Amino acid sequence: MHRVCLVGRGDLSEWRDAARALAAAGLSPQQVDWRIGGAEDELFEAAPDLPTPDPAAAPLTVPAGFLSLAESVACHTEPGRFHLLYRLLWRLQSDRRLLELTADKDVAWARLLAKNVHRDSHKMTAFVRFKEITGQAEGRRRFFAWFEPSHFVVARTAPFFRRRFADMDWIIATPRGTASWDGESLIFDTRPGENPGHGDPTDELWRTYYASIFNPARLKLKAMQAEMPKKYWRHLPEADLIPDLIANAEANVRAMAERAASDPPPFHHRLQEAARTLPPHMPADAGTVEALREAALGCTRCPLHCAATQTVFGEGPQEARIMMVGEQPGDQEDLAGRPFVGPAGRVFDAVLKEAGIARETLYLTNAVKHFKYVPRGKRRIHERPNRGEIEHCRWWLAKEMELVKPSLVVALGATALYALSGQQGPLSRLRGKPIAMQDNIVLYPTVHPSFLLRLPDEAERRRQHGLFVEDMKTIGHLSERLAAQ
Ligand code: URA
Repeated sequence: MHRVCLVGRGDLSEWRDAARALAAAGLSPQQVDWRIGGAEDELFEAAPDLPTPDPAAAPLTVPAGFLSLAESVACHTEPGRFHLLYRLLWRLQSDRRLLELTADKDVAWARLLAKNVHRDSHKMTAFVRFKEITGQAEGRRRFFAWFEPSHFVVARTAPFFRRRFADMDWIIATPRGTASWDGESLIFDTRPGENPGHGDPTDELWRTYYASIFNPARLKLKAMQAEMPKKYWRHLPEADLIPDLIANAEANVRAMAERAASDPPPFHHRLQEAARTLPPHMPADAGTVEALREAALGCTRCPLHCAATQTVFGEGPQEARIMMVGEQPGDQEDLAGRPFVGPAGRVFDAVLKEAGIARETLYLTNAVKHFKYVPRGKRRIHERPNRGEIEHCRWWLAKEMELVKPSLVVALGATALYALSGQQGPLSRLRGKPIAMQDNIVLYPTVHPSFLLRLPDEAERRRQHGLFVEDMKTIGHLSERLAAQ
């Protein structure tokens, strides 16, 4: 019996080199004892005992598919994995179609191990949570994540994070190795990492965000538990919210259905009625934002006023230096009569807080002042305003700008950008590039907060959340520079 000792931390090449030598020496699977867990310098301790390879032996070949299967199996923590791989390699030399026999015990076992590894790798892409390492010198932002995978998946999954988070430095430490990226090299260390137990001031904001986007009406408990097994919860700052959100889901769905009934709540009709009694033509000379708001309550410039509950006008100090412009009020804003108080507003509040901008210092408004929606069952589904509606409502936006006189106007999303500048180019190209407007006003285009709510992928949402916070910080600095001019 020849004993081979491998480090066995997910690196196929150490097994492959050993397997090649053993097979060339004619050693059958029954003659090899594969051991795992040796230090690197103990590797392949049986090598000196190997019989000299037979020079006449046919070279080893394997069918397509074996190497990628073996790469996955090598990452599993199953102690018998290298023995299994060697058995498959040996049998493949006389049976080229072995891998097609899905009922074969060795093949089925290898496929099952590979499946576990793929799943673990997928979970890592979904549940790694980066925490910012603060107090660093100027330069790229640095992040740390602690994760506990079931298998040796760090090296194979790290390229995903390099693609996703290329613009920041990061370290992912696990008990099964550590990967790090500095913008140039992706480095992997097989030694167990350590969890320094970093807290992160953004955890609280992340919890707010999660609670905002949790939709009780879409809760599928079984699917959620399968997709997000409890063992991963400890990596998630939002984890302790989940039991309550689940427990209250049914009650919240009922409340949502009542709130979002297509029969508008009683005060909807009263407000609509009151608006109809206002003078149809608004004074063009309203001297304050308050007077302008009063006038806008009776706005009938476009048909959107017919179905909406009320005009949702801008709010904030008339002397605000920054004006932020969204698209149009949503369902909750329509009922409350205030901008940005629904789910997008909660995300926006969290982002502002993280960027150090106080909402009360901003003038917040929308390109279109009435909620546009289509009723679907008991729900009112948001619909994008069209050009005509935006253009009618631009009258109000221009008046708000005249009175507030901001030095910086932020377009949140494509509708606001169109209303403010007439530009229709892709937002991805225009985002973050200030545009000079008349009266020395600077226009700063960025995304709308609801863009973050729509991203299905958690990792991408995190990245975009970070970018949005960066935009807000830039806006804060820009506004200070403009004030100092
Ligand atoms: N989306 C907007 O654009 N504005 C709001 O007020 C709410 C959601």
